[in-house]
Amino acid sequence: MNRNVKKEDRCLRVGVLGCGIINQAAHLIGCTKARNIHLQAVCDVAEDLLGKMAAMYEPDSVYTEYEKMLADPQVEAVIIGVGDQFHVPCAKMAAEAGKHIFLEKPMGVSIEECEELKSLVESKGLMLQVGHMKRYDAGLQYAKQFKEQKMGEITTYKGWYCDSVGRYTLTDNVMPVLYSSESMRKPAGNPKAVLDHYYLLGHGSHLFDTALFFMGEIDRVSARYVHRGGMHSWLIDCDFACGAIGALDLTVAIAQQWHEGCEIYGTGGTVFAKTYNPWEFRSSVVECYDRETDLCTTPAAYDGHFYRRELEGFADSILNHAPCTGATADDGIQVMRALIATYRSVQEAGAWVSLKDTAGGL
Ligand SMILES: NC(=O)c1ccc[n+]([C@@H]2O[C@H](COP(=O)([O-])OP(=O)(O)OC[C@H]3O[C@@H](n4cnc5c(N)ncnc54)[C@H](O)[C@@H]3O)[C@@H](O)[C@H]2O)c1
Repeated sequence: MNRNVKKEDRCLRVGVLGCGIINQAAHLIGCTKARNIHLQAVCDVAEDLLGKMAAMYEPDSVYTEYEKMLADPQVEAVIIGVGDQFHVPCAKMAAEAGKHIFLEKPMGVSIEECEELKSLVESKGLMLQVGHMKRYDAGLQYAKQFKEQKMGEITTYKGWYCDSVGRYTLTDNVMPVLYSSESMRKPAGNPKAVLDHYYLLGHGSHLFDTALFFMGEIDRVSARYVHRGGMHSWLIDCDFACGAIGALDLTVAIAQQWHEGCEIYGTGGTVFAKTYNPWEFRSSVVECYDRETDLCTTPAAYDGHFYRRELEGFADSILNHAPCTGATADDGIQVMRALIATYRSVQEAGAWVSLKDTAGGL
């Protein structure tokens, strides 16, 4: 049987670490469809899960030991889709083995470990991209370009990321059937034991990365948090280094449809973006108002497979020796600092916390 997928002559040979949810639902199929990636190897300690994924995606090699996949000279880069606490240790091992790294978000669980990873990767001359896939949302990419070319000085950024109480009804419908195994390796303890940490890392990382993508560095934040009846809500004021002010809303979960997006006000125009649940694979619907022409544009942005697109971007950068087009290690660290600053600000009754003064982890 042949696969109906067109590949470029030179594809990046990738080894995928982990056969859990993200790799089953996004990266294994993303590698298969990507124009410039060859699925060289897959690794998981759970042999049954590995066998299932190998049968579906047909890598050249399979490994139950990560060290062995890293020793495979055919593997040029790894995609790391394992529990958050394993991100940095697994990425460091890849860097030591001379492999480029695509690392799921959040970059890690503490600022110090992320900084160590950044230094190691730089010292080896390798590429590291963090899996903030919204940077490859074609609607948001258009809006970013519009902002840079047309919007003049920016005064205000508003961002919201509100998970929906109905999200599992939706995702069960649109995601592939997911497999699990008794043998899967999970970080020690229950990551959901402290829900505000868990939601900040899992969801807050997307909210902050989108803000960084549009606005650049955040100087400081002031956050308030409330939880009632299973709902967790953060309202976060922030100052951007560019001089704009921001207001961010992270809520898990609201009693309506998935509610995510942003608005940006500038002297030359305005952007409004509505973003969908990622598993719908739909680009954000974006409205860009241009003051000069008095017209509003909305790109069609047909290709909503931002998980495939981020892998293609990663491979393009490596194959063409070009700068990273996704979230860099610096972006991943900024997100970590913003999350920790938010957490600290809540503890200090909404005090302003500078990102440069943050340390430690969640
Ligand atoms: N970008 C997104 O939209 C998005 C969505 C979901 C999850 N994620 C991220 O993806 C990451 C993985 O989440 P998940 O839910 O897929 O995890 P998971 O726990 O379901 O799967 C991880 C798999 O990796 C394997 N594994 C772990 N360490 C290993 C090792 N050293 N050697 C071999 N196998 C190993 C485990 O056995 C397991 O099968 C998380 O960091 C999460 O935040 C991102």
